[in-house]
Amino acid sequence: MITGHRGAAALAPENTIASINKAAEAGVKWVEIDTQLSADGIPVVIHDETVNRCTDGKGRIADLTLAQLKRLDAGSWFHPSYANERIPTLVEALDACLSLGLTLNLELKVHHDEQIEPLVNSVVALIREKGYPIDKLLFSSFQKKALELCQQLMPEVRRGFICEVWNNFSLSSIQACQAYSVHIDHHILTPAIARNIKNAGYVLKIWTLNNADKAQYFFDMGVDSIITDAPDKF
Ligand code: G3P
Ligand code: MG
Repeated sequence: MITGHRGAAALAPENTIASINKAAEAGVKWVEIDTQLSADGIPVVIHDETVNRCTDGKGRIADLTLAQLKRLDAGSWFHPSYANERIPTLVEALDACLSLGLTLNLELKVHHDEQIEPLVNSVVALIREKGYPIDKLLFSSFQKKALELCQQLMPEVRRGFICEVWNNFSLSSIQACQAYSVHIDHHILTPAIARNIKNAGYVLKIWTLNNADKAQYFFDMGVDSIITDAPDKF
């Protein structure tokens, strides 16, 4: 019922192997991370469009090769004790999740629409090549187009639609990607919206809730899973 967000973003530098380890230590069964492509087309694990906030470097991820990304310190910004953390490749993160027994919510992080196709193609190819267990995986995205492509290329992996806006058209608009779950910003979730999503048969996940005192309120509403930076608190 609890998913560590970007690993366990409150406990270690987000989207690093250390962060995934912290989530597992906190006892969760699920972890969420973000993936996008380096300039040379390698799926790496990082959230923002640039490396500026979470490393000691500067520039757009899409403009930096894996070798350039790997030279950056992805931990010191969080705490000096994490100075050796690097931006993980998706392969490294998949291996960590497997060895820790975690199910992975892999968010396909798209900053521009033209990134959708190359990202989905690369991720699907990599999952296939590794023979990664599909029951240990869920793809999620804010972009319906990305989920539709996942559905076409790898229908056996579950898909979650992430949203921060909900309206009367939201349910019908996600039918094409045949989603398994809806991941909604907890700030906009009301009992009526929760009922709407649950009655349509979706698993309901909220992000990013860090106040454990509110967990029961959301579970009572029908929420199935809470995505949190602080899994240790839940
Ligand atoms: O997957 C839920 C959440 O991670 C979506 O927002 O910006 O943290 O990737 P963001
Ligand atoms: Mg995310």
